[in-house]
Amino acid sequence: MTDKNAQVMAALSTVIEPELHRDIVSLNMVRDLQIDGSTAKFTIVLTTPACPLKNVFLDRCNAAVIGSVEGITSLDIRWDAQVPTDRKINGLVNVPMRSLIAVASGKGGVGKSTVSTNLAAALAYAGARVGLIDGDILNPNLPTMTGLGHGHPAVVNNKMIPLEAYGIKIMSTGFLTSPDKPMILRGPMLHGAIRQLFTDVEWGQLDYMIVDLPPGTGDAPLSLAQSFPLTGVVIVTQPQDVAVSDALRSIAMFETLNVPVLGVVENMAGDFFGQGGGEKLAQERGVPFLGRIPLNAEVRIGGDYGRPIVINLPENPAGKAFQQLAETVAARISMVMLQNNDVIPLNVIG
Ligand SMILES: Nc1ncnc2c1ncn2[C@@H]1O[C@H](COP(=O)(O)OP(=O)(O)OP(=O)(O)O)[C@@H](O)[C@H]1O
Ligand SMILES: [Mg+2]
Repeated sequence: MTDKNAQVMAALSTVIEPELHRDIVSLNMVRDLQIDGSTAKFTIVLTTPACPLKNVFLDRCNAAVIGSVEGITSLDIRWDAQVPTDRKINGLVNVPMRSLIAVASGKGGVGKSTVSTNLAAALAYAGARVGLIDGDILNPNLPTMTGLGHGHPAVVNNKMIPLEAYGIKIMSTGFLTSPDKPMILRGPMLHGAIRQLFTDVEWGQLDYMIVDLPPGTGDAPLSLAQSFPLTGVVIVTQPQDVAVSDALRSIAMFETLNVPVLGVVENMAGDFFGQGGGEKLAQERGVPFLGRIPLNAEVRIGGDYGRPIVINLPENPAGKAFQQLAETVAARISMVMLQNNDVIPLNVIG
């Protein structure tokens, strides 16, 4: 490294990543530095494409370098994103996914499938490679919510090809059965069915695998958490007391299973269910509050017609709230992976 490169790197090592709270050089986010006359050119590799903070990086890098490194008067920054690989997952599961996120709740009907779908759609829209598994084996809703209806996956080399919508790869038992014939499965078979949605499907490389769980603390979340090392779980609750106390049980279950709780989403906030219950719960349990989604008829309509509001009506207050939620969750995932991985957050592997 030339002197000038070293000076620029030293200056950049004072720039703190706004969410991970570590400097961008030790996080290995600065790549391909070249000095061209009075311009320092480099790439910043973000830990998620769903990062809204480019301007913050830009300002901080300018403030750190310009004026402190002699002869450098401008920066030319290129942007890239690589979701880190959660070392907990790597190698343990025969599915090339970099992170594995469950969406859970204590009470039914609070909006897990809606949150899962909108989260997946927003991350895919940002450019991430996203898989979505319908962990609700017995009552799958994702075929409707993603607009895929009763499509059937093709089978190639004994593996199912996931269906795709909004750039998301999706698997659900709803694609394997007919709507008028319910699945009847108990304990071990249910366990097997969830496993198969991972292992018998040709997922390809994924940045985020999201699993939409059925409500409660029953077999499905248990078997998922025991079969697969989860990067973290997003807890969805409605604002009212009964939902919140069920969410509390769900958080306790995941904590017992040593699954990091990424945080709490308060869904359907507004006049009808009230507001603030989810935030209060997060505070009391010492877990992050991830955001509040308003009760809004367009969310329900989007679900019924298979058009996630975050894509279909991005300017709608609920659409905006889901967009923000996706960014917050992506940042939390990066943070948790940084902890799981001890030091190296960016990919050493593939
Ligand atoms: N913010 C919202 N505003 C209005 N309607 C919503 C909102 N979030 C979800 N809904 C609607 O509420 C209903 C339940 O949502 P959803 O199916 O996502 O919940 P769930 O937690 O997955 O339910 P289950 O426990 O049955 O799996 C759906 O009709 C959905 O469209
Ligand atoms: Mg659901």
